[in-house]
Amino acid sequence: MHRKGFIFDLDGVIVDTAKYHYLAWKHLADELGILFTKEQNEQFKGVSRKRCLEILLGWGELKVSQSQFNSWLAEKNEDYLQYIETMTASEILPDVPKVLNFLKEHNVPMALGSASKNARPILKKVGLIPYFTSIVDGTQVTKAKPDPEVFMIAAGELKVMPQHCIVFEDAQAGIEAANRAGMTSIGIGKKEILTEAQYVFKDFTEIELNFIKELAEL
Ligand code: BG6
Ligand code: MG
Repeated sequence: MHRKGFIFDLDGVIVDTAKYHYLAWKHLADELGILFTKEQNEQFKGVSRKRCLEILLGWGELKVSQSQFNSWLAEKNEDYLQYIETMTASEILPDVPKVLNFLKEHNVPMALGSASKNARPILKKVGLIPYFTSIVDGTQVTKAKPDPEVFMIAAGELKVMPQHCIVFEDAQAGIEAANRAGMTSIGIGKKEILTEAQYVFKDFTEIELNFIKELAEL
């Protein structure tokens, strides 16, 4: 097995679903009369569905019954599912295949490390399942990012030491999780937001294969 392992977050890294999560939350927030901006949405990235709703209700100072809570949770997800229903490979973010193909050609093990319970169906829709040795998603983790659990499970399944794993993340919580796991953290997004990341790129078009080669020690 290769010494290095690569772990990818899904939403906002591999596919452009972060915008759909935002739209679905915005829809619910509007309905509940709670202000929800794109800046606030940064705090939802990488965070479990349940925790997002808790945060939203906290902002609105709303205390609700468990059944009301569950019904809003379901409503948000149904809304989100409508957005992803028709997803195809065209929604894979630019130059992501360039990096995935390069690593696959060199037999570098890859894992998915996502907080989403919808990760598998999304990967299936966009045809990326075969790239991953391990898929760790929101159905398997008990402690959400910024806890490093999701990435530690992925490293274990790849049989790669945490310090030899490289994580790609668009969320502040995800970068913190990678750092806490002792992994190399690569932020995808804005430098001003992903201040804790070891490297930051706007998107994969900015990433040279030579850089990947160096990280993978090829
Ligand atoms: C993460 C997203 O990948 O998954 C979060 O960044 C989202 O915004 C979380 O809340 C949970 O996703 P899902 O699909 O289980 O609601
Ligand atoms: Mg993400």
